[in-house]
Amino acid sequence: MLVDIHNHILPGLDDGPESLEEALLLAENAVANGITHVIATPHHRNVKYINSPISVKEAVNWLNDELSKRSIPLHILCGQEVYFHNEMLQNMEDNLLTLGESGKYLLLELPTNYLPTFIFDILLELQFSGYIPIIVHPERCRFLRKDKQQAYELVKRGVLFQVTAATVVGVNGWSMQKFAKNLIKHNLVHFIASDAHHYKDRPFLIKDAYKYIQKKFSPQYVTYFLDNAKHVLEGSLLQPIPPISFKKNYKS
Ligand SMILES: [Fe+2]
Repeated sequence: MLVDIHNHILPGLDDGPESLEEALLLAENAVANGITHVIATPHHRNVKYINSPISVKEAVNWLNDELSKRSIPLHILCGQEVYFHNEMLQNMEDNLLTLGESGKYLLLELPTNYLPTFIFDILLELQFSGYIPIIVHPERCRFLRKDKQQAYELVKRGVLFQVTAATVVGVNGWSMQKFAKNLIKHNLVHFIASDAHHYKDRPFLIKDAYKYIQKKFSPQYVTYFLDNAKHVLEGSLLQPIPPISFKKNYKS
């Protein structure tokens, strides 16, 4: 079983595939990467897109039917990539989907330029209510690249980080790759996911990313990331490796 917890495979909902044909090509690309399950996570509540749970569920059922008609061995589950907003907890019941609808893991996108003012309070509220926030592509956040200790502080408080496969292999540039590697070294990464949008322009690249991690870090990291993604699919608790501070002699 190989699970991808972040991608935009559903056609017509956001900046992912524009047609069923493109979605099927992207699905074939997932299969070529060894992926068996993808949690579809269309954008929700960013500046451009609103994708209600019902619209995501309908699109997932439809795409699963189309995949099985063509014997493409891939199973799609529901999710959303939720843009961080203050009323998240109030919206959990009716407007937000947890990953794989397990009621546990929530995929969150932060602004790229600043850490939202009430973020620690809101994350805590979510955690008290039993949710586990996963922050997507922290390597894209300029404020975290500038102040790495903030990344540590977030993870120290129980937030999980997902780095994009394309970043790991250097497609998103040298500085993001360097930062992502630094996060991995400090045990601040819990998932590698594709954030795939298009079979040509933004494909899965998961296989390449895991190969890279196996070579530059260790096979144990690959096993850790693979197992963590399975926990998300199953809605079970994962055991994060304790994070390492960026400050020398840091006492928490
Ligand atoms: Fe995304």
